[in-house]
Amino acid sequence: MAQDNYLRMMQQELSPELLCSIANKYGTPLYVYSADKITAQFRNLQTAFSNSNTRFFYASKALTNINILKHILNIGCSIDCSSVNEAHLALHAGFKPENILYTSNGIDFKEIEEAVGLGININIDSLSNLEKFGKKYGHSYPVGIRLRPNIMAGGNLKISTGHSNSKFGIPIEQLNEILDLVQQHHIFIRGLHIHTGSEIKDVSVFMKVAEVFFELVPHFPELEFLDLGGGFKVAYKERDHETDIILLGSEIEKFLINLENKHQRKFQCWFEPGKYLVSESGYLITKVNVLKTSQNTVFAGVDTGLNHLIRPMMYDAYHRITNISNLKGETKTYTITGNICETDTFGTDRHLLEVHEGDLLAIYNAGAYGFEMSSNYNSRYKPAEVLVLEGKVSLIRKRDEFTDLLRNQITVL
Ligand SMILES: Cc1ncc(COP(=O)(O)O)c(C=O)c1O
Repeated sequence: MAQDNYLRMMQQELSPELLCSIANKYGTPLYVYSADKITAQFRNLQTAFSNSNTRFFYASKALTNINILKHILNIGCSIDCSSVNEAHLALHAGFKPENILYTSNGIDFKEIEEAVGLGININIDSLSNLEKFGKKYGHSYPVGIRLRPNIMAGGNLKISTGHSNSKFGIPIEQLNEILDLVQQHHIFIRGLHIHTGSEIKDVSVFMKVAEVFFELVPHFPELEFLDLGGGFKVAYKERDHETDIILLGSEIEKFLINLENKHQRKFQCWFEPGKYLVSESGYLITKVNVLKTSQNTVFAGVDTGLNHLIRPMMYDAYHRITNISNLKGETKTYTITGNICETDTFGTDRHLLEVHEGDLLAIYNAGAYGFEMSSNYNSRYKPAEVLVLEGKVSLIRKRDEFTDLLRNQITVL
C-alpha cells in the first residue's frame, strides 16, 4: 500500500525536463508548485469521505501565496487560518466568511473581536478568551472550543500539539470550568476542535479523538461540528506510510452514524489538512554552486539554505533530492548542504546521478511549510515562486531584490 502510494505520487510529478526549463527561465533558488497535484489530493479526500458528512478546510499556514489560496477556492475547498491576517488573506482571495475557520492559539482577545467582525468561524483555545467571549457575545455568535486531549501523536515533538505538556487548546481536565463558563454566559458552542499533531500515520489516533468527542457531545446540546484538525501524513520517501484516508473515511462514517443514532440528530466532521494538500505539489529547485571533496564526503553546496527550507534542520525532515540536470549515467554519493552560515544539511550521503557544478537539483515535498517559513537570514533574498496549472507556467512571486532587504527599516543614523 505504502509502495503503491509512493509510485502513484512519483507518476504525478512534474518532469525533470519541465522543472529545468522553468528554473532556466526564472532562475534559482525557485519554488515551483503543481496546482493539478493540489486538485488531485483534494479529490482523493472527497472520494475517501464521500459517504460521510465531512468538510475540509485547507490549513493555509502551509502555503499562503494568493494564487494557491485562489486555486483552493476554485476547487471547492474551505480554508483554515492560524492568524487573523490569514483570514484577511482568505477574504482577499475570495472566500466567503462562512467558509473560513480561524483556529486560534495564545492570542489577544482583540484578534477574536476582529474575527467576529469578519463573520468567520472561530475556535477558541483558552479559558480566559472563552470567558471574555462569553461576557461580550453571550449566545449571539456561535463558536468552537479547541481542546487538548492529552494524546501524544505526530511525527516530531515540535509538531505534536495534543499531549499533556502542550500549550495548545484547553486541557480536557478543565471540562467543568468550560461548562461553568458556557452556562454562566449562555455561550453558543457550535463545535469542538482537537488537533493532535502533524504527520499522523495511524488512523487509530484520529479515532481516539473521535472517542473523546463521543464522550463530550452530551455536554454541549447545540453542537453541530466536530473538528479533528489536520495532520494527514504524506510519503516523503520510498516505503513511507501515508495516512490511510480511505480507512479513515469509512471509520468517520461509522462514527457519525453511531453519534447520530445516539443523539437523534446530525453532526458534521471537519478536517484541516495542510501538508496533505500542498506538500507534494511543491519543488524547491536549487543550483549546485560548489563541489567540495573531503576525506569521507563529497559536499554539493547549493544556492539555497535553511533560510528557504528549514524543515530538514528544524524537524529532521527527509526530503527526496534528485539531480534534474543529469538524467542518466553513474550514481555517486553526496551530502547536500546550504549556503547559510550554520550547518544546513538538506541530505546526508544521498545517491544522485553524477553532479557537476552548475547542475540543478530538485528538493521534493517542498510545498508545505517551505516558502511559508522562509526568511531573509544572511540578507539573502527569498526565492521566486512559480505555479503550473494545466500546463500553463506562471510566475506568482518575484524574487526579492535589494530594496526588499531595506523595506520598513528607518535610517536614523
Ligand atoms: C490547528 C491546526 N490545524 C491544521 C494543521 C495542519 O497540519 P498539517 O499540515 O500537518 O495537515 C495544523 C498544523 O500545525 C494545526 O496546528
